Amino acid sequence: MASLRVLSVIATAAILFAIADTSVATTTTKAPTTTTTKAPTTTKGPDYIITGRVYCDTCRVGFETNLTQYIKGAKVKLECRHFETNVVDRTIQAETDENGTYNIELKDSHVEDICDIVLVHSPRADCHEIQELRDRAPVLLTRNVGISDNLRLASSLGYLKDVPLPACPGLLKEFELPDDDDTDDDDRQVAMAPITHTH
Ligand SMILES: *[C@@H]1O[C@H](CO)[C@@H](O)[C@H](O)[C@H]1NC(C)=O
Ligand SMILES: *[C@@H]1O[C@H](CO)[C@@H](O)[C@H](O)[C@H]1NC(C)=O
Repeated sequence: MASLRVLSVIATAAILFAIADTSVATTTTKAPTTTTTKAPTTTKGPDYIITGRVYCDTCRVGFETNLTQYIKGAKVKLECRHFETNVVDRTIQAETDENGTYNIELKDSHVEDICDIVLVHSPRADCHEIQELRDRAPVLLTRNVGISDNLRLASSLGYLKDVPLPACPGLLKEFELPDDDDTDDDDRQVAMAPITHTH
């Protein structure tokens, strides 16, 4: 019955500590729970879940607007390269759901990996033109970046629509893009990145 005696000693000590300082008592009782939750480092779950969206740039402006449509059934791939050799050591394909969203589970990630999300295929005949800088997005797979969970959100990737939607000129006015003639100076909406017009 030695353990019982030890327990009673601990209990007495705890009571004494509780009387002396309540904060000490709470830290001693919290300690065992934190160690047990940190223990399972050998779980077989994914290291990371990478998520993002694929859109159709219906106005051909180079960014998402409220006329942007999200593409269902678009194919993307996660491409990981070794940071020194630059050799692709892994690719994982995925397809977007009805909201244009994909999810990729990455297991057994390596610290040497540099990963990108890359567009592979658009199912839309009217929206499959690749847009430079919007066909690929880096995925940050570093721990200790202040993100405690394993979810990584990649920037949206987009294809260009062949012909802009009829509503686009009106929308662009909302963004106050310099549409040559009538540029009124009231600041309703902050203009986005400058667009080089091709006319
Ligand atoms: C797009 O957004 C602007 C400004 O918020 C709004 O005035 C316009 O009605 C929206 N257009 C559509 C098609 O939702
Ligand atoms: C798509 O988005 C809608 C609205 O946010 C949501 O209700 C639905 O569950 C989403 N679909 C999928 C497959 O996640």
